[in-house]
Amino acid sequence: MNTDGWLVDTRISYDTVAVSYADQLRDALAGYPYLRAALSLFAGMVHAGGGGPVADVGCGPGHITAHLHELGVDAFGVDLSPGMIDVARRDHPGLRFEVGSMTDLDLADASVAGLLAWWSLIHVPDDTVPTVFGHFRRALRPDGPLLLGFHVGDESRLKTQGYGGHPMRVHVHRRQPGQVAGWLRDAGFTVEAQLLLDPDESAPGAVLFARRRS
Ligand SMILES: C[S@@+](CC[C@H](N)C(=O)[O-])C[C@H]1O[C@@H](n2cnc3c(N)ncnc32)[C@H](O)[C@@H]1O
Repeated sequence: MNTDGWLVDTRISYDTVAVSYADQLRDALAGYPYLRAALSLFAGMVHAGGGGPVADVGCGPGHITAHLHELGVDAFGVDLSPGMIDVARRDHPGLRFEVGSMTDLDLADASVAGLLAWWSLIHVPDDTVPTVFGHFRRALRPDGPLLLGFHVGDESRLKTQGYGGHPMRVHVHRRQPGQVAGWLRDAGFTVEAQLLLDPDESAPGAVLFARRRS
């Protein structure tokens, strides 16, 4: 088990908020048509590639995993937080969820047809992102699609409470899409598209579509 301080803090934080996070986010996707469109496009890419298992890495309570499943994708979830995995299994008993970290991803080489990291890379410090992307590339089949969602910006902040005032200690890293795209190219991905969400708001988001180079 990796005992880096930030990983321990992140795991404990999401264990603490798991139940309230699930309650607050369960139906959130309904209010985000662009995110649903991105997930549908990703599902279509997985189908076009012949299908197969798809990893939702940093799945939290599993609502995105379940959404992909409804789109016909053989999705399973991985999360650092055992509390989140307990909630995901409770809410989606027909799906597979496992505890694990994207920094040491326990997936066999070329074993997944697609991989998604949906607002989970936001807690990984810059110096560890190349390691994470190396795992993503290793686990993906050649030409397999990768979907990333993250907060856009230039600063990192320490979040000390959330989801109903529960104590947390997580660093939230905002990044420019170009910076993330550069890391992806260096790790062996081709970046195919980017979607900028809420560019006029104070907290924009981005979704990047990439593909493992063979
Ligand atoms: C903001 S939540 C997003 C959850 C879910 N993807 C969603 O969209 O609702 C961040 C999630 O990333 C997980 N996480 C953070 N660092 C991780 C790591 N190194 N490996 C796997 N999961 C991680 C957290 O436990 C948490 O469940």
